[in-house]
Amino acid sequence: MILKIKTWSIAFVLVFTIAIVFLGQKITISANNSYPSIENIPMPQVEQPLRILTPANEIFNIASCKVNDLGFTIAQADIPPGAGPIPHVHYYIDEWFWTPKAGLELFHSTRQYPTIKEVPNIAGAGRADMYSIISQANQIIYSPNFYVHGFVNPTTETLPITFVWLKNDLAPVFPHDDGGMRDFFTEVGVKITDLNNLPSLNDKNKNAVVTEAPRYGMNQSSYFMEYVNSIDNQFPEELAKMQNDEDLKRVIEAVEAFNSGDKSVSCS
Ligand code: CU
Repeated sequence: MILKIKTWSIAFVLVFTIAIVFLGQKITISANNSYPSIENIPMPQVEQPLRILTPANEIFNIASCKVNDLGFTIAQADIPPGAGPIPHVHYYIDEWFWTPKAGLELFHSTRQYPTIKEVPNIAGAGRADMYSIISQANQIIYSPNFYVHGFVNPTTETLPITFVWLKNDLAPVFPHDDGGMRDFFTEVGVKITDLNNLPSLNDKNKNAVVTEAPRYGMNQSSYFMEYVNSIDNQFPEELAKMQNDEDLKRVIEAVEAFNSGDKSVSCS
């Protein structure tokens, strides 16, 4: 009998301890990670992959797809230490960032700038208060049009990120019908022919990002603080709540269909 009670109490303590540890972990996970995560965003397996070095020093592998009214571009990118796009606003596309590894620092406004005429600078509509977040592995962050955003790699190693740019209803027709991002980067970046021998960027490329942006439905700052009034590292819940899994699912399904030979999806 004594043995039986002892076994039971040991079992009870064990279960209780496991429950506490488990609950504790659960609370930590949800508090640190209000963003959903995803295991993979597939890249369209196109015949001739296009690689571009952007003026923000990002190395892009870029492909665009079209199926019915869905037009999008996906860029798999490697972000060297210190690189990344400085704050900008999109009008013709909604954007997702997928960070397979942790460590990139994203910046996002809560204020919207709903027309391209409202430039978020001192002379224009006023600068934005920004919030920063360090991305976790496999995190998905959704950034619809009209918000000021950007990111940087503050670490000492090159980090991957995948961008999804989905054309929205405001977009005019661009050659790739993706809301303009593919053609924008083709114009302002430099084509990479040898990954071991990267081309060099000049001031012309760097200026073009700013001056050409409005033609592709963007306002792009020319220095980090141009659109930034303040930066707070308490990322607000209202930004974390902005998710759009439905459209992302449509994008992923289109890529998977293309990769398995479905001719109704065209990617290049
Ligand atoms: Cu963007």
